[in-house]
Amino acid sequence: MRIPLFYKVVDANYLDILNKVQNLLKEDHLPQIKKSINKISENVQIHPATSIGQIHIRVNGSATQLNKDVLLKDLNQILETKTLERTKYYLQRLVKNISEIKTGKINDLNLNRWKEYGDIFTDSLWYLDKRDSSGVHNAGYWGNFIPQIPHQLLQRYTKKGEWVLDPFLGSGTTLIESKRLGRNGVGVELQKKVAQSASKAVEQEEDLFSAKSEIIVADSSTLDFKAEIKKREIKSVQFLIMHPPYWDIIKFSEDKRDLSNAASIEDFLQMFGKVVDATYPVLDKGRYFAVVIGDKYSAGNWIPLGFYTMQEVLKRKYSLKSIIVKNFEETKGKRNQKELWRYRALVGGFYIFKHEYIFLFKKTTK
Ligand SMILES: C[S@@+](CC[C@H](N)C(=O)[O-])C[C@H]1O[C@@H](n2cnc3c(N)ncnc32)[C@H](O)[C@@H]1O
Repeated sequence: MRIPLFYKVVDANYLDILNKVQNLLKEDHLPQIKKSINKISENVQIHPATSIGQIHIRVNGSATQLNKDVLLKDLNQILETKTLERTKYYLQRLVKNISEIKTGKINDLNLNRWKEYGDIFTDSLWYLDKRDSSGVHNAGYWGNFIPQIPHQLLQRYTKKGEWVLDPFLGSGTTLIESKRLGRNGVGVELQKKVAQSASKAVEQEEDLFSAKSEIIVADSSTLDFKAEIKKREIKSVQFLIMHPPYWDIIKFSEDKRDLSNAASIEDFLQMFGKVVDATYPVLDKGRYFAVVIGDKYSAGNWIPLGFYTMQEVLKRKYSLKSIIVKNFEETKGKRNQKELWRYRALVGGFYIFKHEYIFLFKKTTK
């Protein structure tokens, strides 16, 4: 029978590795297994990968993707194995990696394929050299954070379809990234104009997963979050992220309720604490809360704003899971005066800020 060209093309795009590896489990002649694995490996090598290094394979009749490099390494490990017993063990593991999905409670990462997530950070020191400016992300809002921050955190602390809350929304970076990753997002912003332009940006981001986004113009320190989300038929949120003003480093508005207008560090921490209290009831127990913040200098002294805010959270029912230190490039103002700042640092006996913090907390009680 002649196979229609269409089927040939479709089949050629998908490798059928699983069946072949499963069949090898019945084989007891080691050189024969190696020969077959060698053949599979050659086929994988010539198979074209997507821009992110994935190849399409067929698993039990449906299509899925595997990371080409990781698969080649796994095949190579089988080729290098000396005993039949060990070879069978690796074959079995490969079958499991390809055909079974194992996820945890708080994200969609397939733990059977954990080696494929080389782009997801697990270290506490983050070096991010270039801002992700793809899609509608842009660096226009002074004081925004780089999209890689929510990108990393959402993948580790949320599943598709869950709700993310950002009570200091600014230009909407969190909601743009949430939409991109198929998470629903609620953002609160004090300034109406800022919220409006965030809303436009979020709307423009391509909607691949039918994710929902809600933006509220309000003061997060007094907002009844429970009532607000109930109005929108949201039961609770599964991840909370806060990127408050770093006290008065950037003045975001003239509004007295704006944390950047706090009269003193004590006032700033009190206002921040109120936002932590107001948002507490809507986050599910066992889920995570991230605070992104940097320190500041005042009258020649380093003010550890980061640790003060961390302490403020720890007064509540949260436990500290990680302190991440992230590099941070000079602000526009300082970039132009780099040499001058270096001179000032040498004379004044201080260091120029190049890092900020991401504190990660877990809600431990209801
Ligand atoms: C550091 S920025 C957040 C930037 C955001 N992560 C982004 O990527 O665009 C802090 C934001 O919090 C807002 N803000 C300050 N006080 C607030 C309050 N009490 N309630 C809600 N928003 C507030 C400011 O207007 C500002 O847009």
